[in-house]
Amino acid sequence: MDFKNKMLMYMLYLVLFKTVFSQLLSETSSSRIFKRFDRLENDVLVIRDDVLVIRKALKEESDIFREDISTLFNELRNLRKDMDEERKRRIGDISTVSNRLTESGQVERNDKQPVSITQQLSCDCGAVASQYKNVINAFKNEKSENIVLRKKFDEIRKKHDFEIGNLLEMFNNNVSGLKSTDKSLRSEIDTIKTETKANLSATQKLVHDSFVVCQKDNNYARAYFDEGLMRLNASLTNLSLNAIHEISRITSDIASLKTQTQGCYTSSCEVKDCSELLSSGAALLSGVYTVTTPLTHTKIEVYCDMVTDGGGWTVFQRRFNGSVDFYRNFSEYENGFGQKDGEHWLGLKFIQEITSSGAYQLRVDFKRWGETKGYDVYENFSLQPGTNYTINIGSRLQSLGVFKHSLNGAPNNSAAGCAFSTYDHDVDKHPMNCAETYRGAWWYNACFDAINPNALYGGPETHEARYMMYGFSDADRLALAAITMMFKQA
Ligand SMILES: *[C@@H]1O[C@H](CO)[C@@H](O)[C@H](O)[C@H]1NC(C)=O
Ligand SMILES: *[C@@H]1O[C@H](CO)[C@@H](O)[C@H](O)[C@H]1NC(C)=O
Ligand SMILES: *[C@@H]1O[C@H](CO)[C@@H](O)[C@H](O)[C@H]1NC(C)=O
Ligand SMILES: *[C@@H]1O[C@H](CO)[C@@H](O)[C@H](O)[C@H]1NC(C)=O
Ligand SMILES: *[C@@H]1O[C@H](CO)[C@@H](O)[C@H](O)[C@H]1NC(C)=O
Ligand SMILES: *[C@@H]1O[C@H](CO)[C@@H](O)[C@H](O)[C@H]1NC(C)=O
Ligand SMILES: *[C@@H]1O[C@H](CO)[C@@H](O)[C@H](O)[C@H]1NC(C)=O
Ligand SMILES: *[C@@H]1O[C@H](CO)[C@@H](O)[C@H](O)[C@H]1NC(C)=O
Ligand SMILES: *[C@@H]1O[C@H](CO)[C@@H](O)[C@H](O)[C@H]1NC(C)=O
Repeated sequence: MDFKNKMLMYMLYLVLFKTVFSQLLSETSSSRIFKRFDRLENDVLVIRDDVLVIRKALKEESDIFREDISTLFNELRNLRKDMDEERKRRIGDISTVSNRLTESGQVERNDKQPVSITQQLSCDCGAVASQYKNVINAFKNEKSENIVLRKKFDEIRKKHDFEIGNLLEMFNNNVSGLKSTDKSLRSEIDTIKTETKANLSATQKLVHDSFVVCQKDNNYARAYFDEGLMRLNASLTNLSLNAIHEISRITSDIASLKTQTQGCYTSSCEVKDCSELLSSGAALLSGVYTVTTPLTHTKIEVYCDMVTDGGGWTVFQRRFNGSVDFYRNFSEYENGFGQKDGEHWLGLKFIQEITSSGAYQLRVDFKRWGETKGYDVYENFSLQPGTNYTINIGSRLQSLGVFKHSLNGAPNNSAAGCAFSTYDHDVDKHPMNCAETYRGAWWYNACFDAINPNALYGGPETHEARYMMYGFSDADRLALAAITMMFKQA
């Protein structure tokens, strides 16, 4: 590499160096700056190496020059030596030569001896002289060139040193600049750190606050939710309570409906019989209903026949299959027995209490074995006050399937105006105990004439006076399959 190229390289490095630094300056990231700084350091080291190389090269070049010069000097010394030998060798001829030279007078004598010799030599040894001249000239030239070169070199070195100084200065500047940059970066980093820390804690606080708010919200939401749940629960409870209330209301409605069907629409309203039930519209179907007796206001169940002859009939005696024994004492006939939806006797006291409160019809429906039906209807039915339960029976209104007998017929046999007798309460008009004799309980007169509804329950072939019968001829006295006795308001 020659010197110029080296310089070029150096310049290139300088440019590169500058570029790197200017780029470096534009960087903001500290890490990048550090990286770049490292690279720059390397570059500077490279430059320094190159400078060293340049220096070495310069030294080498000057060494070469020095060698060349010494060679020249040696040559010159040799020449001098040769010339001296030549002079000594030719000393004998000097006078002749000198004379010849003097005679010619061409050479100006400054230094008598050497000049003359030289003049002699130049004359005599033209080649050597010219060589000498050349050598001298060359030496002179070399010397001046060397001086110039040295000067140039010094200049270059100065310049170089200057540049290097500049470079170093610049480098130092840049290093200090970098240091200050680094410092400022560090402080910047610290600031960022502090700020970040502050920001972080602020953010943390913010997050915490948000969390607290969120938690609060959550709690609020939960409270809201709980409240909602509570409200829901309350409303559900209310609903269920309402439902229970509703159910109980419905139940009571049903009960009251039942009461209504047994009585009337309002609880204060009291019906005393099936006629009122029917007329109030509360009960339309046959069945067991509750009525309130008009005097003692006793609630009793009665079976209502709502079908027969317009309905409204309060049944006080009903038999159809003999499941209930009707041969009972007075107390039982007074208070009633059996099931209202089955075979039963309502009770004299209730019949008395109800029928005494108005105008009632009496109706007897019966069924013979073999499905033949009949009925017998009278007006003005009631039981007189007192424990005899004396029966009042008005005119017969209509009848079917009844032969000659009636409840108000022949004086000796009719029930009308008779007290009610049981086997243990014989108030009939016959010396004997009709009830006991004929196994019944009835408004016996002098006993009866084919009418013994509360006697024993007989079969299809039974035809005896102690069996349940109504209106057959004495000859037949055939037992009935079923009988119902009932009353309704006229
Ligand atoms: C590095 O040196 C260059 C060239 O002298 C200069 O322009 C720059 O400002 C210096 N940078 C620093 C950080 O001092
Ligand atoms: C945190 O830093 C971000 C981004 O620099 C900024 O928007 C925000 O306002 C800072 N927050 C605080 C609490 O300093
Ligand atoms: C719902 O309400 C009922 C009655 O107020 C209460 O007994 C019950 O504990 C409540 N349930 C809940 C889950 O709040
Ligand atoms: C419960 O139900 C009743 C009747 O529907 C209503 O008047 C009352 O406001 C309800 N109470 C609640 C707490 O929902
Ligand atoms: C009679 O009728 C009632 C009511 O229908 C019934 O419960 C009973 O079993 C019957 N008895 C006989 C013997 O048929
Ligand atoms: C009537 O008959 C019933 C049932 O058998 C009995 O409990 C009651 O004591 C009897 N009454 C009299 C007065 O005999
Ligand atoms: C019998 O009933 C009819 C019609 O209900 C009535 O007009 C008459 O006065 C009643 N007779 C007696 C004695 O009560
Ligand atoms: C009614 O009975 C009495 C006494 O037993 C009797 O004297 C009278 O003749 C009877 N009357 C009729 C119509 O049978
Ligand atoms: C009950 O009837 C019988 C027979 O008819 C009679 O002797 C008696 O005096 C009556 N009793 C009352 C309280 O009327």
